[in-house]
Amino acid sequence: MHTLGTSALRVLMSVNILVSASTFSSSVKGKQRSLTLPAEANSSLSVPVDTKAVLHCPPDNSTALVVTWTIKPRDQPPCTRAYRRDNNETSERNCTDVRISWESRPDQNPALRIDPVAITHDGYYKCEVAAPDGHFGHTYCLRVLVPPKVTLFQDSNGTIVCRAAAGKPSAQIFWNPEGDCHTEEEPLGNGTVTVQSTCHWEGRQVSTVSCSVSHVTGNKFLELKTGDQLSLNSTILYITSSISVALVIVGSILLWRIGCCRKC
Ligand SMILES: *[C@@H]1O[C@H](CO)[C@@H](O)[C@H](O)[C@H]1NC(C)=O
Ligand SMILES: *[C@@H]1O[C@H](CO)[C@@H](O)[C@H](O)[C@H]1NC(C)=O
Ligand SMILES: *[C@@H]1O[C@H](CO)[C@@H](O)[C@H](O)[C@H]1NC(C)=O
Ligand SMILES: *[C@@H]1O[C@H](CO)[C@@H](O)[C@H](O)[C@H]1NC(C)=O
Ligand SMILES: *[C@@H]1O[C@H](CO)[C@@H](O)[C@H](O)[C@H]1NC(C)=O
Ligand SMILES: *[C@@H]1O[C@H](CO)[C@@H](O)[C@H](O)[C@H]1NC(C)=O
Repeated sequence: MHTLGTSALRVLMSVNILVSASTFSSSVKGKQRSLTLPAEANSSLSVPVDTKAVLHCPPDNSTALVVTWTIKPRDQPPCTRAYRRDNNETSERNCTDVRISWESRPDQNPALRIDPVAITHDGYYKCEVAAPDGHFGHTYCLRVLVPPKVTLFQDSNGTIVCRAAAGKPSAQIFWNPEGDCHTEEEPLGNGTVTVQSTCHWEGRQVSTVSCSVSHVTGNKFLELKTGDQLSLNSTILYITSSISVALVIVGSILLWRIGCCRKC
């Protein structure tokens, strides 16, 4: 986890705002008045676990009479936080998570803060604004990212294993050189997944293998020298065969000489 500090600081945002009803009109005493205000918007927001996230409530806040946040994390009952400008008061309903609160003073900025972000904060966060000139809603689909713990090692039977443990979403593993590999994914129940790839390079002279782990929180590259073992094996083989060849030659010479001398 410590190696991913820098990437964790980076708030990854994949914003894809879908705006619907970008134009709505209201009829005031027969007169047609057209407003160009997005009535509803959705966006997805990806944030690394253990960081601070701030969810803004986009429209001009100065005119907002009431701002309401509906907080619906995964597997938890919804909670609402509201601010009313007329009496300058905040209220809350069913909100028990102390990590979620107003970012600062809602009379100045009605943004919501989650600090620190936990894996259970995955879910929907909707901000609704009631203003004199209309209503506005913005729903964030919050996705919490967990960097995997990456390891590369050789197990007792010589198989080389690359593991990306407890990542969210699941990581992808690539090998260089490509070997005879088997990759498995194991969901851990809390939304994280462990991906493990085991490889061998049958009958090939491979001195170094590398494993690249690709993940939205950052990529990892690990290298393992298998050279020592493989070259040790081949050295032994080489020495053994050299000795055998030498013995055969010496033996042949001796036999030839013995044969020769008997003849003579
Ligand atoms: C936003 O998401 C909600 C459900 O979360 C959906 O009902 C609504 O149609 C979406 N709006 C847009 C503009 O995609
Ligand atoms: C709203 O109330 C807070 C204290 O709760 C106060 O600091 C702030 O000045 C008030 N804002 C307005 C606009 O009255
Ligand atoms: C508050 O949460 C409880 C469950 O913990 C739920 O039954 C109740 O309907 C919630 N109340 C509101 C107003 O959302
Ligand atoms: C509106 O919110 C922004 C932050 O989003 C803040 O900087 C600004 O002061 C707010 N404006 C008013 C009039 O409260
Ligand atoms: C070698 O180790 C791997 C991973 O630990 C295991 O899946 C495999 O069955 C083992 N093979 C032998 C021949 O022991
Ligand atoms: C998810 O569960 C696994 C296994 O219980 C644990 O090792 C990991 O730390 C958990 N991850 C988070 C972010 O809670």
